[in-house]
Amino acid sequence: MKLHLKIWRQNGPQDKGKMVDYDINDVSPDMSFLEMLDVLNESLVAKNEEPIAFDHDCREGICGTCSLFINGEAHGPDRAVTTCQLHMRKFKDGDTIYIEPWRAKAFPVIKDLMVDRSAFDRIIQAGGYVSVNTSGNTLDANAIPIPKHDADRSFDAAACIGCGACVATCKNASAMLFVSAKVSQFSLLPQGKVEAKQRALNMVKQMDEEGFGNCTNTGACEVECPKEISLENIARLNREYLSAALVE
Ligand code: SF4
Ligand code: FES
Repeated sequence: MKLHLKIWRQNGPQDKGKMVDYDINDVSPDMSFLEMLDVLNESLVAKNEEPIAFDHDCREGICGTCSLFINGEAHGPDRAVTTCQLHMRKFKDGDTIYIEPWRAKAFPVIKDLMVDRSAFDRIIQAGGYVSVNTSGNTLDANAIPIPKHDADRSFDAAACIGCGACVATCKNASAMLFVSAKVSQFSLLPQGKVEAKQRALNMVKQMDEEGFGNCTNTGACEVECPKEISLENIARLNREYLSAALVE
């Protein structure tokens, strides 16, 4: 395959940045999107040009670091996959592909296609934990009965990999799908009930302080989420937050 790439290049956070054109030949349809970028980078290095900076780690859809806006869609045209799991067979020979970083005030660009997602870490720090009684009277987690339905929904929420596609996709750059998944994975289980109220209040407060926008229920986040996190989690977060705020 031959492709024409239009890639966002930005030297650093203060740089204005611009789209730069690249042509690439001999792309195998079996390559992943990141392998295609590796090939492009090798050719740039061979020409003594600066390679394109992009984030990646596991390349297995687990770590959530590969975050590219491809042809106007977070993680590209495929559904329920991360950029590292996207294959070039989803594109046609001769295609022009636009590749940009996540765009959100709370995710500033570090360089080229890499953004700073530490805002998500600070939201997790604000409330994403459970307390465990370690006095010697700890109840074995396996001995606590949990309805199957609740366990399944908690597991589904825990599938969130913190990639930020929901924010990048939302016209308001809202982080509600991410925060609601992190709140739900605990609040559905008995172990998560202890801090449930403070967790909802603290994580939402941190989310607002980080500069994420408000949720206006467009549902775009759910469509583009590579882990198919359900909007049902946002409804649960709203309920948790309201009841916690009322007793404050
Ligand atoms: S909710 Fe989905 S899109 Fe948002 S951070 Fe989690 S996995 Fe990524
Ligand atoms: S590189 Fe880890 S999810 Fe894509």
